[in-house]
Amino acid sequence: MIPYPSKVEHKEGKFNLNSETRIDFSPELIQVVNYLKDLICSSTGFSLPSNLEVYMKNTISLVLQDSSEILNSEGYQLSINTDNIIIEAKTHQGMFYGIQTLRQLFPIEIESREVIEKFIWTVPCMSIVDNPRFKWRGLMFDVGRHFHNVDTLKRTIDLLALMKMNIFHWHLTEDQGWRIEIKKYPKLIEIGSKREDTKIGGWVSKTFREKPHEGYYTQEQIKEIVEYADERFITIIPEIEIPGHSSAAIASYPDLSCEGKQISVPSKFGIFDDILCPGKETTFEFLESVLEEVIGLFPADIIHIGGDEVPKKKWRQCKDCQRRMKDEGLKTVHELQHYTTNRIGEFLASKGKRLMGWNEILTESTDRNFIAQWWLRGKKNIIKHINEGGEVVASNFFHVYLDYNYFVTPLKKTYNYEPYTNGIKPKHHKQILGVEAPIWTEWVPNRNRLDWQLFPRLAAVSEIGWTSMSNKNYANFRKRLISFSRRLNYLGVNHADFEKIDPNTLQRLWNLRRAFKWPKI
Ligand code: ACM
Ligand code: ZN
Repeated sequence: MIPYPSKVEHKEGKFNLNSETRIDFSPELIQVVNYLKDLICSSTGFSLPSNLEVYMKNTISLVLQDSSEILNSEGYQLSINTDNIIIEAKTHQGMFYGIQTLRQLFPIEIESREVIEKFIWTVPCMSIVDNPRFKWRGLMFDVGRHFHNVDTLKRTIDLLALMKMNIFHWHLTEDQGWRIEIKKYPKLIEIGSKREDTKIGGWVSKTFREKPHEGYYTQEQIKEIVEYADERFITIIPEIEIPGHSSAAIASYPDLSCEGKQISVPSKFGIFDDILCPGKETTFEFLESVLEEVIGLFPADIIHIGGDEVPKKKWRQCKDCQRRMKDEGLKTVHELQHYTTNRIGEFLASKGKRLMGWNEILTESTDRNFIAQWWLRGKKNIIKHINEGGEVVASNFFHVYLDYNYFVTPLKKTYNYEPYTNGIKPKHHKQILGVEAPIWTEWVPNRNRLDWQLFPRLAAVSEIGWTSMSNKNYANFRKRLISFSRRLNYLGVNHADFEKIDPNTLQRLWNLRRAFKWPKI
């Protein structure tokens, strides 16, 4: 089982699922019951009819109720006996996680989408009590550098659900591509979602693919994905990068930048000087209209506005930015970013939404209602944010950035990441909402590469997020990973070779040059 549950007690015997097995549930649970039926019936061919009697043998019972063992809305209890299976939870979400654990206890053939005849479907008897350690267990997916289609997103969301992860942070805008349809600004798609070419082979390479790249999600597709995630208890946090990493927006509407010059959507990667101009009112009118449409599409109460890697060169030279600084009494260009973040934060608050950003949004006096995602540097501001009541999502660059290869970030290094380190006092631990692993896709052009980067490290991330500190054990995780990987194989996930995911120090040093060089795909 991955992530490992809070308490597991193995018992004698097995439950045997067969054509006579029935299901018993209260009617409001229909959504999770349909999910469970789809899982079981597709592979077994059994119909899993509803149980009409109060107690019958050979039944799976889903019971919504309070229990002192279930500590929060995501917890559950699972009891597998020779006669019956009982899942108890306080909420539908807890029930869904109980189902995911049961799913992992079935033979991997339960994952089949076609009926497998004459198969014996047994589950070992045991009692499980399970509660998550953190409430934020996420993956950030950059679809800007490379577009990934709706199928790949749904498949990735399915895998998050399997591991009880609950946040899909969707990085929708980048220098190299704007991927979300905005009705008021059609050029974001007409121009911003396409680029002429793409650099390949890694940071030091000079080679290009010599092929255009494009892609975007229509608002209808976005609604479909939001709903798909919601059925799996996964919240989608959309990210619109403000004010940096916005070349694609500027290529579409050049007036958004300080100089107003036409640029093209870049084919190279990195940090670009042309960023949004907060000196012009029209930039805020644009951003508010974009965010209004974004808010209409995503029910989450949090909107991510990026805020990372903002070169201020153009702001220093821009008469509009300089006038804004004078009018607002801003002494530095860093204060101008603070002003920009605050204005967007106030706009979001007026719509009932909360701002989230990378740790560069933080200053001495940031609104403590903003959520900071801590990826690199910025410790002083993070500690101040926390000391003054702010909340943080832990995304440490050296441990959970899954876009690096296994020489740079071995599985063990990811697994051993501890969100509570770095001088955060125990009384503030509850302000660390949890963990989120980013996958940036400069060198991730397709699903095969995506799978290789994510797996098995994302399984380690799920365990950082869910499993209690006292139950975390790397050797034990590696053992469980063997059967988990069989399930991944069955699901068609192209995970990395387990012989190569924990290179020793010598191998790591020898191959460090590969950190900057990626194989061609
Ligand atoms: C980041 O990796 N630039 C947040
Ligand atoms: Zn400007």
